[in-house]
Order: sequence, then structure tokens, then C-alpha cells
Amino acid sequence: MSNIDEIVLTGDRPTGKLHLGHLVGSIQNRVKLQDEASKSFYMIADVQALTDNADNPEKVSKNVIEVALDNLACGINPKKTTMFIQSEIPEIAELTVLFLNLVTLARLKRNPTVKNEMKQKGYGENVPAGFLAYPVSQAADILFCKGNLIPVGEDQLPVIEQVNEIVDDFNRFYGETFSKVKHVVGDTPRLMGTDGNEKMGKSLNNGIYLSDDFETISKKVMSMYTDPKHIHVEDPGQVEGNVVFVYLDIFDPNKSEVEELKKQYKKGGLGDMVIKKRLINVIENLINPIRTKREELAKDPQKIMKILEEGTIEAQKVAKETMAEVKKVMRINYF
Ligand code: TRP
Repeated sequence: MSNIDEIVLTGDRPTGKLHLGHLVGSIQNRVKLQDEASKSFYMIADVQALTDNADNPEKVSKNVIEVALDNLACGINPKKTTMFIQSEIPEIAELTVLFLNLVTLARLKRNPTVKNEMKQKGYGENVPAGFLAYPVSQAADILFCKGNLIPVGEDQLPVIEQVNEIVDDFNRFYGETFSKVKHVVGDTPRLMGTDGNEKMGKSLNNGIYLSDDFETISKKVMSMYTDPKHIHVEDPGQVEGNVVFVYLDIFDPNKSEVEELKKQYKKGGLGDMVIKKRLINVIENLINPIRTKREELAKDPQKIMKILEEGTIEAQKVAKETMAEVKKVMRINYF
């Protein structure tokens, strides 16, 4: 059943392969929504990726196919979702320039998501202007196709808020053109990293990737942080903040067994090895079908590029229509 009012748009920066945080934060929703919404777009945000990788464009272009593979392997269906590459839609850049006039420098500097990322990258005042302004270009990503339902991880909510401010200002200045956008976050809006950091992140080096093999998954789980005071099997252990239990709570389909294990662990008498082995299996069961499909798809990269090319052509058509409308309401349609 499709909901005629809903246009889904979402995207990933192609800076590396995607991990479990992407899966539970956004990809699962994308897969579900492509059946429910009237239209569904998936963007590979290479221009946004360049905002902090200007010195390394090859890293960005090389990862375009990787994020496409990750999404296809998770169940994004190109017949239902228009998959395209951001830099191939010049209207997104055009809209960005027009939207930039609706946003103050002070507002850009206040965005908590951007602030956080700037801190992480150690930019300070030397932040690239394009990076500081990426929420504005993200507004263009969303609005070029009149997207109004946006599956994102929790960290992106301040960006979505800023997009809505742009929608309001645009409509107030030029007349009702865009509708407000709604975010959808997954059941696990923010997944802890394997090191216990509150966020799993590409640059934090604490992720389990959708393409990781069994051995890699095992190593990552084995090195997970548990309870430092749980030294002997008999010692009572702590479950809260214990990464292994945090993951079991999220990924283990057998909730009652997990509750039982938690009780045992708290009482003492349950070793870390037992819960880690269990978690390895749980994650392997989740990733195995994704990895298998991914390997199959990766055998024919030309086919993947063809999917992106066809999706891009489709997105270009939509972009032209929106741009014509924007120019008209702004009275900058001259000829
Ligand atoms: N900023 C998003 C991220 O880092 C990626 C992205 C770019 C995006 N454009 C978008 C997400 C538009 C949703 C809608 O994950």
C-alpha cells in the first residue's frame, strides 16, 4: 500500500563501507519505507563527503559503489527506490546557493551535529565553509525532489531541524513551495561503538561493518569492553553499559534468554566468553545474508553503476521540474 503524500529521501556519504549503526539507525527504515511511500529516493552524497575530503576526492569516488552495494545488499530495491549520485544533479548545487541566503553564519555555527563533527575533526575556526554549511546543502538534497520523510540516524536530527527552518523561510519569502520534512529514526537511533563509545562511527574505528567476515566479527566482539571488575567467572558483573549486553539487547532475537543471562551475569557465575560467543553468532546470523548478497552483487560492478546511472537520469528529471518552479516563485525565470 502506498501513501501518496510521502516522498522518502535519504542518503549516505561515500567515505567508507557502512556498519551496523547505519543498519539499525536508518537502512532498515529505508527498506521498509520503499514499500510504503509513494516515492523513494536514495542519494549517494559525494558532494557532502567532499566537504571534509577535498584533498582526497578519490576516497569519495571509490566508495560510491561500496555504499551502493551495502544498501542493495540490505534490501534496497532499485525498482522501488531511485538510487542516484548527488554530484550528477547540478540543481542541488543551485538550490544550495539560493538557500544559503536564508541562513546566518551564527545559525550554522550553532548546529550541534556540525559542532560535534567539527570538534571530532579538530577544525576550530579553520573549518571548510562547505563543511559548516553542509546542512544547507542537505536541505537542497531533500527538497530538490520534494522529499518529506527522511530516514536518518539520531545524530542527524539537528540537521533536519535546520532544513525545516529553511523550508519556513523559503515559503515565507516566496510563497508556499515546500512542505515540512519529517524524520524517521530506527528502533535503535544510536548504536554504541564496540569500544563503548556512545556512537559507532567510521572515523572512530569502533564499527562492525556489514561486509565484515566471520573472523573479523569474532575478533571485534572478543575485544569488546565488558565490566572491568568482572575478573573471575564467579564475580558478579555489571550489565548496564556492558557493550556485549547492549548489543545482545538490540540484536539477539531471543529476548527471554538474554534476560536470563543478564540475571546470571549480575549474580556471578557467567563468564564473558559465554556471552561473547553468543553475540558472535547473533551478529553473524544478521550479517551473513547481507554479506553473501553483497559478494554476489560485487561481482558485477558495471551492473551497479548502471543502476546508479538510470536512477540519476530519473532524479535529474525531477530536479529540473523543481528548479523551474523555484525560479518561477522567486521571479528569476527570465527567458
Ligand atoms: N548527512 C548524512 C549522514 O552523514 C548523509 C546525507 C546527505 C543525508 N544528504 C542527506 C541523509 C539527505 C538524509 C537526507 O549520514
